Amino acid sequence: MKEIALFISILFQLSILSSAESNDFSIDLIHIDSPLSPFYNSSLTQSDILINAAFNSISRAESFPLNTDVNSDQTITIPNRGSYLMPFYIGTVPRGSLAIVDTGSDLLWIQCLPCTNCYNQRLPIYDPRKSYTHHLIPCGSDSCRKVSKNSCGIAGECKYVVGYGDKSITRGTVATDIISFNNSHDGHIIEYPNTIFGCGYNNTGVFQPQGAGIFGLGGGPLSFISQHGAKFGKRKFSYCLLPFYYVQGSSKLKFGVDTQTNRRGVVTTAMVSLYPSTFYYLTLEAVSVNGRMLRPDERTVGNIIIDSGTTTTFLKTSWYKKVEAAVVEAIGHQSVALSKLNTFLTVNTFTCFAIFPTQKTSIIGNLLQVFFNIEYDLDKRTVSFAKANCLKE
Ligand SMILES: *[C@@H]1O[C@H](CO)[C@@H](O)[C@H](O)[C@H]1NC(C)=O
Ligand SMILES: *[C@@H]1O[C@H](CO)[C@@H](O)[C@H](O)[C@H]1NC(C)=O
Ligand SMILES: *[C@@H]1O[C@H](CO)[C@@H](O)[C@H](O)[C@H]1NC(C)=O
Repeated sequence: MKEIALFISILFQLSILSSAESNDFSIDLIHIDSPLSPFYNSSLTQSDILINAAFNSISRAESFPLNTDVNSDQTITIPNRGSYLMPFYIGTVPRGSLAIVDTGSDLLWIQCLPCTNCYNQRLPIYDPRKSYTHHLIPCGSDSCRKVSKNSCGIAGECKYVVGYGDKSITRGTVATDIISFNNSHDGHIIEYPNTIFGCGYNNTGVFQPQGAGIFGLGGGPLSFISQHGAKFGKRKFSYCLLPFYYVQGSSKLKFGVDTQTNRRGVVTTAMVSLYPSTFYYLTLEAVSVNGRMLRPDERTVGNIIIDSGTTTTFLKTSWYKKVEAAVVEAIGHQSVALSKLNTFLTVNTFTCFAIFPTQKTSIIGNLLQVFFNIEYDLDKRTVSFAKANCLKE
């Protein structure tokens, strides 16, 4: 499978795009495996990284809920691995921190001292006792009720539990403090006082030492975008992701900016409201392989989740089989819409198809998203895609 030139494209249900002006606020993300990462392990080869990323994606995909029935009593499992780290500061005297950017979860949480059980973390663990802007949230409050699996602590404080598919769990208190960012546009620090976040004192299972926690950008009421969207004019964010081996520049994450206005070929699709509100469900009508339209057997409305944290893409098994058969048949043919970068992983002398079958929810992984500018508009409830040179964003 060497010279693969394929025309694979994905066809969303379309809706209409319109836009307006707003503030600028941009963050340089760090890929966890990039040579630019402060924790880069130079003894890992690119193949090791790709193999790890693929396996991590599979465990993450298996952690998504099997169905989306509002009445089902199952645990809402959120993804447990991610790829892009978000730099931010926390506290009265700002401490630098890094957390995994995750559009598949809501609550921002980081490990906190004094730990009952903390995983090995490379950066110093945050000590809320040293921040006088750190305040606990009472367990009867509205904010506390928005936390899934909230409970009351002995002092009446709000407690949270977030469980993951691989049995990793974080437990702690829900608090507020100043979260700030270094705007990569002008180097100015932007502060968000009273940001609700989780102080994780008991974090067990498999978490990555490069991150202090998880930065939730999901659609639920406590995600950073839901909490602060009004402050930057609109509840809107976008990212342009580079693959990890690009060392020339950084992937960008922007808040409150209209990023698609002057682009060509912008495709906009509606977010579909399904349970839980955390996930960005989209409608993927078909995958086209060299012009052959491959449609899912099941309902299409809200049939796929777009997720920044899963590396590879997953399609329901029956749909995957059709796509795979068409790809196998088409190998040796011409032309590209999704580039090879988006759909294949090259490991040593092997090239693997970076789309996998799943019995659970179909997911658009981050590999499929690289070199696209992707904008999430929570007010209009749309997600839009445009090909972009993410090095120049
Ligand atoms: C780097 O990767 C090697 C090979 O997998 C591993 O043995 C080593 O423990 C890693 N080092 C760190 C600091 O993670
Ligand atoms: C913000 O980022 C710029 C560019 O990386 C850096 O030079 C500057 O020192 C940072 N500012 C603060 C306050 O950390
Ligand atoms: C820490 O969390 C684990 C797993 O959720 C739980 O079994 C254990 O009881 C917790 N420990 C404390 C002291 O709360």
